[in-house]
Amino acid sequence: MQNPSRLRRIGGLLLAALVLCGLSVPARAQDSLLERGRYLVTTVMACGNCHTPKDAEGRPVAGKQLAGGGIAVDIPPFAVTSANITPDVETGIGAWTDDEVKRAIIHGERPDRGAQAGKPLAAIMAANFFKALLPRDLDAIVVYLRSLPAVRNVLPAPVYRAPVRHEPFAEADRGFTERDMQDPVRRGAYLATIAHCLECHTPMHKGVLQLDTALGVGGRRFLPAFIKGLPEGWKGAVSRNITAHPEQGLGGWSDAQIKRAITQAVGHDGRKLQPPMDYASYAGLRDEDLDAIVAYLRSLPAQPR
Ligand code: HEC
Ligand code: HEC
Repeated sequence: MQNPSRLRRIGGLLLAALVLCGLSVPARAQDSLLERGRYLVTTVMACGNCHTPKDAEGRPVAGKQLAGGGIAVDIPPFAVTSANITPDVETGIGAWTDDEVKRAIIHGERPDRGAQAGKPLAAIMAANFFKALLPRDLDAIVVYLRSLPAVRNVLPAPVYRAPVRHEPFAEADRGFTERDMQDPVRRGAYLATIAHCLECHTPMHKGVLQLDTALGVGGRRFLPAFIKGLPEGWKGAVSRNITAHPEQGLGGWSDAQIKRAITQAVGHDGRKLQPPMDYASYAGLRDEDLDAIVAYLRSLPAQPR
């Protein structure tokens, strides 16, 4: 039998050598679950865009990270307020098991107890996109949520006026593997899926997202009449065509222009871009992940609006 401590030492040396040579140990594999969870929640998945309350200028309210009430949406099928997802036992998700938290994120299901027992979450929680999460990333998100300070925050109860429906998103249904993360276009597809970019950037027709016929062509409207919690004076925004279409989409943009739009809210013509897209969170994306997202966007079939 080999001496286990010697094996461990050799393993450690090998890893150190790989890191020193900059060989392909992807950044995400080196991260602890907590660090990975923080990265996903605070950058690409931008949970705080909905779940963290903001002041009139749109700045996160100190001490209330992910404490709910960040946005409230009132549209025909439902009127809901983003939930408190801090570990507070009474008003947050402190009493939920890890599996229950995971089911909420990737299936939009609530536990069978509490005031809203068993009622599905409104479709604004994009479970049809979040279901693409790799198991390790889902674990990481839960570890990070558990590490947050518990904040007591009582919120209005949701009102459901129609059954919850999610349109299937093919990319999420097909799923991803750890191996895909080595390929920039596939990793970009993964990141854009868990960021639900195409949920916002695909038009709705009679309440149905046109994911099969108009993927990424934009035209979805976000208006102060039905979304509360965005900065004072926000007049609403209409999502843009982010397919590779040469005139109407991003086909004629440089990579740098696309990255500036995503992270700095500046259009290719210098125009200031408006919420609800969470440019500030995307500013925290690693360069290689931003490049992967751009590579994926360039692979979307060019379509006019
Ligand atoms: C587009 C807005 C939006 C984003 C982004 C979002 N959520 Fe939510 N989330 C909501 C809303 C609104 C609810 C409440 C839905 C309802 O009451 O039916 C909710 C509910 C939840 C719940 C259920 C909690 C409860 O007490 O019912 C969990 C858990 C949750 N979100 C976690 C997350 C995590 C983790 C992320 C990021 C990975 C995230 N959400 C991103 C809007 C959002
Ligand atoms: C919550 C909805 C939402 C999400 C999520 C979202 N966007 Fe957007 N995005 C918008 C809206 C609305 C605009 C238009 C803003 C304006 O015109 O002021 C926009 C603008 C853009 C633009 C600028 C396009 C132009 O022609 O000016 C790009 C590029 C873009 N989004 C890419 C992305 C990518 C990539 C993701 C995912 C990482 C993403 N968006 C996620 C809503 C969203």
